[in-house]
Formats: sequence, C-alpha cells, structure tokens
Amino acid sequence: MAGITLTVNGTRREVQAPGDTPLLYVLRNDLELSGPQFGCGLSQCGACSVLVDGKEARSCVLPVSRVAGKEVTTLEGLPARWAGQQALPASEADPALHPVQQAWIDEQVPQCGFCQNGMMIKATELLDEVPAPTVAQIKDAFMSGASPHLCRCGSYSAILDAVQRASILMAKGR
Ligand code: FES
Ligand code: FES
Repeated sequence: MAGITLTVNGTRREVQAPGDTPLLYVLRNDLELSGPQFGCGLSQCGACSVLVDGKEARSCVLPVSRVAGKEVTTLEGLPARWAGQQALPASEADPALHPVQQAWIDEQVPQCGFCQNGMMIKATELLDEVPAPTVAQIKDAFMSGASPHLCRCGSYSAILDAVQRASILMAKGR
C-alpha cells in the first residue's frame, strides 16, 4: 500500500491507507484527531467538516487521496491557523483559542456538542470570507445549499450569536 502525504494542521504527515479511505477515518483513526465527528457519513450533516485549503469539506466522503498536497485544518488546528493569520508563531497561540472557539464558549453554544465541530469550521470559513456577515448571510451559510449543517439539539440561535461575537473578536485581533 502506497503512503499518502498530506499536511494536517501545518504538519506533513504520511499515512498508509488505500486512497479511497475517507479522510475522516484517517484523521480520527491514524492521526488521533477527534475534533471531526462521524454523524451521517453521507455529507448531509456537517459533523465531520474540516477545512481543505481554507474551504469547508465533508471529510466523511472525501477520499484521502484527494487531499494529498493540500492543507487540511481540523478543529484542533484552528488556534495555530489564527496565529498564522496574525503573523504570530504557533507557539504563542497555544493554549489560546481561535476567536470562533472563544465565542462558542462565551455564548455557551454546545448542548450535546456532537455537531459543533462542523459549526465552528463553517463559522471559520465564513468569517475568513465575510468578516462582518449579516444575519441573512450567516443563516445562508449554515442552512442553505445541498449540504446544510444540522443540529438536532436546536442550537441555531446561539450559533448566530456566536458568529457575530467571533466577528467582533476577530476585528479586534483576538
Ligand atoms: S458525517 Fe460527514 S456530513 Fe455527516
Ligand atoms: S449540540 Fe447537539 S447536535 Fe448540535
């Protein structure tokens, strides 16, 4: 079995896996990154989301061979990613949180928590693209399209507040 080299949270990793193995399995089972969750396994809920070259991707249906040579960021890598965007060394970000993660705590968003990995990944992608999104843009990002983010606990209102709070924190550079 040929090794596949990918960059995860800023570190080059070589994994031994068939190329059609879902990225989620590699992240959780080989690289011991437990942020991304297995929900539906069908690209329909968002629990497994990661960033691939800055764009949200559903890792449950993404063959690992497709991310060879690309930058994968999981929930665990968000603080260092934020430090990089602030031109700080990664060491200064640890144990600091990404503003999205801090806002999630401040707004006490999670209930059971199962969906929240994907919610924070989605929020990070959105705020990178639209630093001060309107309510309509936030709702559109999370709820529209073929693959919305689902929360069976109904935390949507808190997510809306947290995205707005994160936007303010990011504007302050925190
Ligand atoms: S587990 Fe990947 S979208 Fe649901
Ligand atoms: S917090 Fe429970 S599924 Fe979203």
